[in-house]
Amino acid sequence: MATVQCHTARVATSAGTGHSQGFVGRIHELETIRSVVDDARSGRMGALLVSGDAGIGKTRLVEAATATPADGSGADRDGLVLGGACLPLSTMSVPLAPLRAALRRAPPELRPPALSGAASHEVTGGAPVLIDDWLERVCTQQPVVLVVDDLQWADESTLDVLMFVLAGSTDRRLAVLVTLRYGEIGTGHPLNRWLADMRRMPCVSKLSLGPLARHETRDQLAAIHGVTPHESLVTEVFTRSGATPTSTSSSSRHCPPDPVTSVRTCRTT
Ligand SMILES: Nc1ncnc2c1ncn2[C@@H]1O[C@H](COP(=O)(O)OP(=O)(O)OP(=O)(O)O)[C@@H](O)[C@H]1O
Ligand SMILES: [Mg+2]
Repeated sequence: MATVQCHTARVATSAGTGHSQGFVGRIHELETIRSVVDDARSGRMGALLVSGDAGIGKTRLVEAATATPADGSGADRDGLVLGGACLPLSTMSVPLAPLRAALRRAPPELRPPALSGAASHEVTGGAPVLIDDWLERVCTQQPVVLVVDDLQWADESTLDVLMFVLAGSTDRRLAVLVTLRYGEIGTGHPLNRWLADMRRMPCVSKLSLGPLARHETRDQLAAIHGVTPHESLVTEVFTRSGATPTSTSSSSRHCPPDPVTSVRTCRTT
């Protein structure tokens, strides 16, 4: 699990595993996320569902949109950024797992005192109110960006809390950013109903991520190799990877960026 520096807290997510240097493209998508965050800063609560196939770049996009620029110029732009990831647990369900992880990352002076109790099995029914009250209080002090990664693995109490929070006061300075891998949600999955209900809420919008464009794949290769790749390599990787950033990253690992060897080497791997 990697950690990125955020404005006033550190957020850990399941991605950002370091096998792709630099962040490329996604200009429109970054603007979409930042406008939800900016609206929240001005007192218009909003939520964004970022969905797409595995490895398309959902987690990385949200990290990039909420991370502090290296030069520090965006410090305190977004306020408190808290994130947690849902886990693909198979033999049990841990109530509120991503929200517990997110709230634990709040600075100690802001952390909700009863969080451990609220997340326990006995008092889970009280968690929506408790977390909602906590967010209400913190959002009056500073804007909050709450990131929930990999919602396809969310426990039902997490879904309930998110629903309760987003059905609450719309003027709080809160942005909820959720990533969702579509391929994991089959018919009958509890998330389908939740998604249908969420989409009817005026404060909720969605962002569907597709593959990178060819020039973005070129930029990604340049970031990986540290030099401008030959066009034949760009074509090869773009075609083979389907322009999925994670595939570009792995398929280019064996491909030198120079024009002489790139195509031949790629074809043999
Ligand atoms: N815009 C980008 N620029 C550079 N690298 C990227 C970009 N988007 C994604 N990557 C890289 O591609 C890989 C997969 O990205 P990421 O983990 O964000 O995908 P994901 O959609 O969240 O996948 P999953 O469904 O498995 O959670 C990571 O190594 C990430 O660093
Ligand atoms: Mg992810």
